[in-house]
Amino acid sequence: MNTLSSYLKQLPSEQSLATAPRSYVNHSVQFKRPATSKQRIEALEMAGLNVFYFPADMITGCDMLSDSGTTTMTAEQWAALHLGDESYGSNKGYFLLMKQISELFGHDFTQEKDFKTPNAFLFHQGRPAEDALFSVLGKLGNNLIIPSNGHFDTTQANIESNGIEARNLFSPKLHDDSKVRFKGDMDTKKLRELLQSSAKQIPVIFLTITNNTGGGQPVSMANIKEVAALSREFSIPLFFDACRFAENAWFIKQHEKGYKNKPIEAIVKEMFTYVDGFTISFKKDGLVNMGGGLFLKKSGLFMSKYLDLPDLLMNLQITKEAHPTYGGMSGRDIMALVEGLKTITKEEYLGARIGQVQQFGAAMHGAGLPVLMPTGGHAVYLDMGKFFADTSMKPEDFGGISFTALLLALYGHRACELGDFAFGHIDEKTGKEVQHEINFVRFAIPRLRYEQQDLQSVVDAVKALYDNRHLIPKVDVTYGRDLPLRHFKARFAVH
Ligand code: F0G
Repeated sequence: MNTLSSYLKQLPSEQSLATAPRSYVNHSVQFKRPATSKQRIEALEMAGLNVFYFPADMITGCDMLSDSGTTTMTAEQWAALHLGDESYGSNKGYFLLMKQISELFGHDFTQEKDFKTPNAFLFHQGRPAEDALFSVLGKLGNNLIIPSNGHFDTTQANIESNGIEARNLFSPKLHDDSKVRFKGDMDTKKLRELLQSSAKQIPVIFLTITNNTGGGQPVSMANIKEVAALSREFSIPLFFDACRFAENAWFIKQHEKGYKNKPIEAIVKEMFTYVDGFTISFKKDGLVNMGGGLFLKKSGLFMSKYLDLPDLLMNLQITKEAHPTYGGMSGRDIMALVEGLKTITKEEYLGARIGQVQQFGAAMHGAGLPVLMPTGGHAVYLDMGKFFADTSMKPEDFGGISFTALLLALYGHRACELGDFAFGHIDEKTGKEVQHEINFVRFAIPRLRYEQQDLQSVVDAVKALYDNRHLIPKVDVTYGRDLPLRHFKARFAVH
């Protein structure tokens, strides 16, 4: 007698079909305002062609300005919001969050009985956590340097505003065309040289996982171990900028020898055994719209080396953000975060998430567009040097800015220039533009938000612009060219 099981062998398996269904369904949807390209052009001109100032409800396509705080929450998270406890101190969610942090990253990162040396600090997002850390480190001396595999732009700004130099030691493989998977690694040869010449000036070493400024590329466990070994050799604490820790762990599982059969949770735990602390914006792999933190390992080098700093951090937190048991977050934000941290390491989530980013990257690449390959975890990066290579566009013409303006005005998609304009600056002596080694337009993919059809429409739009790249104009900077963090503030006009 035939049973359903007997068909398993007779018919093609579900894995063999070309298209797999998503691992989730839409829980609620939002219709967009039907703005025409003429209306978008008017709005963008009002915004001085700076896409940050463009009204988001007029975006008819994909909003890829950032993957930060833009997640669609799960039904469990929406339900958890209702359970938020808005008490002024020690709300219910705080204890659930500390338990979740301990389970994910290790028990040494949260406070238990020892209340005299605080080590877990909540903030409303990533950058105040970073500012707190760098402002106390800045007091340790002059001419300090914090090296990283790639500091994020606001991280770098927070370091510099506290009088410290932010040094980027990108992997030498970042720009080559090879299929090397872990292009986010730190250049450990350069790190060793820096430590040999200047160890006394280095209060901490940072590793950004995944490396957002470096093409969203992952960092290998091997590199984490190597950097950790150098940090031990020179007795300098190692920190993660851990915003995208789960996405990084997924790459280790998929691509690094020895991790294929390990659960994501075990890989995350191992990653965090090598560091003495971490800063995090939960707006990425916390799967929430708000939240951040700074966590110091109780048995780590930071705590034993800088005995006075935890209390200074606590003072800063209380005066600038709030009591450590809520740190600028509402009780309901904390409840949503606890749920988000439970979902983020699930393989059915990460597989769908990274799969979507990879598929989008492959579609861009397949359309002949010069994107950084292989694709990273949260975004696809269009190499603007290669994009304009056969045109007359020069770095100081800021073609990435006019590209993002046209993409939004004509096709309704918002992407972000992270290149000659965002990272360049004017040399005070010569008055000339100085370029950074990175020149991308980034298409960040919000978590659980878009479907394949949406992303394909972005590919079609970028292709239409690429095919007509000789027509893309230069821009004049009408305001803010010489300001720090100028990409957030400047205004432009078509030349
Ligand atoms: N570190 C990294 C690696 C980041 O990507 C970000 C934010 C931060 C720190 C700061 O966190 O925004 O909560 O204050 N990145 C966003 C982005 C804004 O678009 O890449 P925050």
